[in-house]
Amino acid sequence: MALELARQGAAVLLVYTSESSTPKAEAVLGEIAALPTPPEASRVQVDLTSADAPAGILSALDSWLGPSSHVDILVNNAGVEVVKPLADTTPADYDKVYSLNVHAPIRLTQALLPRLNPEGGNRIINIGSVGSRAGFAGLGLYCSSKAALEGLTRCWAAELGGDGTTVNQVNPGPVQSEMLANIPPEIVEGQKRNTPVQRRLGTVKEVAEVVAWLASPASSWITGQVLSASGGWAMY
Ligand SMILES: NC(=O)c1ccc[n+]([C@@H]2O[C@H](COP(=O)([O-])OP(=O)(O)OC[C@H]3O[C@@H](n4cnc5c(N)ncnc54)[C@H](OP(=O)(O)O)[C@@H]3O)[C@@H](O)[C@H]2O)c1
Repeated sequence: MALELARQGAAVLLVYTSESSTPKAEAVLGEIAALPTPPEASRVQVDLTSADAPAGILSALDSWLGPSSHVDILVNNAGVEVVKPLADTTPADYDKVYSLNVHAPIRLTQALLPRLNPEGGNRIINIGSVGSRAGFAGLGLYCSSKAALEGLTRCWAAELGGDGTTVNQVNPGPVQSEMLANIPPEIVEGQKRNTPVQRRLGTVKEVAEVVAWLASPASSWITGQVLSASGGWAMY
């Protein structure tokens, strides 16, 4: 997503948390630097579940582009899942999923409100999942957290539209990633079988291009929407 946004001219600040992702973030920065007209790009390592995360991101933004810089596009992408039946679900599981998938976007979006471009037309894009409107055994916390994000998406769209700011959500179907490795294979195989477009997984690029379009001026009349990026597995 960062690469696609950069390709379309956005200066990008990458957010990640694991030490092992530093080289991956560096690799993305390298790909951005190799674009024909590379925009500014940087990275910041924070734990989005920590109350200090927004301050860490804002401080990185200040040192990178200066304290008067604005944020025009926010993509709330980080997410985590726990695969467990209801009977085994613990309060710690709830905290793990909801602190990243729900609380972190609330905290970060709220903290960035004063830094949005005062000229308006800002873009907030939440990354959900087709699971938010489906019933997958063992994925109750994950699916319900993405449904909560849909509720936030619609309410923020209603609150923030006055200056042309839009808030939308993209719900991907299965896409090859580290997360997918933890989803029970029978769920993924069932999804592939029922995907009208070529009975396959989606690609990162296919999701990133939907996000980039939502981030562009071309989507100015679309807000409070949830787009299923799943090859038609989920049709809204
Ligand atoms: N892959 C799929 O099939 C699929 C389908 C539907 C929806 N989604 C959604 O798409 C989004 C991206 O998923 P993915 O497949 O790319 O998952 P992933 O491979 O597990 O990557 C998750 C990303 O979130 C970051 N992250 C995790 N915990 C964090 C924290 N506490 N603070 C900051 N960053 C944190 C990770 O950073 P580190 O690498 O540094 O840990 C990583 O960049 C998620 O919201 C997911 O629910 C994915």
